[in-house]
Amino acid sequence: MKVITYFSLIEKFYRATESKFAEAIRIEDRVFPDGELNPRIVLENGSSIENDHIVLYFPKKSSESPNDYLLRLFLLIDTVKKLKASEITAIIPYFPYARQDKVFRPGEPLSAKVVAKILENLGINRIITVTPHIQRIKDFSIWFEHAEVKELSGIKVLATWIKDNVKLDKNTLFVAPDWEAAKWAREMATLLGYSEEHVGRIAKERDVNTGEIQQKIIDVPKWVNTDTKVVIVDDIVSSGKTMVNAAKLLQTEKGIKNFIFSYVHPVHSPGAIDLLLSLKPQTIVCTDTILLENASPRIKQASILPFISSELAKLK
Ligand code: R5P
Repeated sequence: MKVITYFSLIEKFYRATESKFAEAIRIEDRVFPDGELNPRIVLENGSSIENDHIVLYFPKKSSESPNDYLLRLFLLIDTVKKLKASEITAIIPYFPYARQDKVFRPGEPLSAKVVAKILENLGINRIITVTPHIQRIKDFSIWFEHAEVKELSGIKVLATWIKDNVKLDKNTLFVAPDWEAAKWAREMATLLGYSEEHVGRIAKERDVNTGEIQQKIIDVPKWVNTDTKVVIVDDIVSSGKTMVNAAKLLQTEKGIKNFIFSYVHPVHSPGAIDLLLSLKPQTIVCTDTILLENASPRIKQASILPFISSELAKLK
């Protein structure tokens, strides 16, 4: 098994996998002035990947558009295939376009399935991804005909970090800021040893034409008081509105002051971090499924790599 990744990630990858990999190969990234991508797998001194199981560890960078990210990934998979690797495993920590897992309005594409189809046509054998944003389907693998799909839980990564780094008390409440997040809030509560009594829910409706959202509290236990510590749990922070509006509702309607914002994928559209910080949460924690360049020191990142490492160990 050989890993192909960015030079800057090689050491981090080796540390997390305890150097189980025979060789790490770096990607050289060139972009032409008109924006066309020209990535290259750097094979030093005529080395080869023929007949090797290749693991592409390829997280999206925060400065990169999902489109550039995917095209770069497609170009690299095709290259690995042409260089005659025996097997290709792509680690795609944040799977772009997964949110479009349904045709919401007539005439729209089923984007998530299109991405899956291209990956498969390029010859991928296996995908390892983290908490893909699928809501309308139960199982991400239904879109892949041959490739194996491994879904890791980003909530587990967050819960492990919170356990080690945040002091929670018995009055902690785990809140889902929208309908879909209820399963993640419940998972987090269970992993940290709390019962269903400690899960609260907020409902969110989104206007499919304008994208505007409306949220309201639907379920918060009676024992909650102004000293209750609230962990809001979601899969994605993009604009930050879902997380912050949920916190504002809890602040105005229940007097909550103490928040921990936790989410798997730091998509962070412009202005999102300032919006999150405006609520002065005690902690903001996400995972490193997206590489944050120039991240605020207030944003803590829990690493997915130990979990990826265990998954890779099963493949040997
Ligand atoms: C939506 O259903 C997701 O789970 C997130 O709640 C959403 O993507 C967050 O987006 P934003 O930060 O823009 O409100």
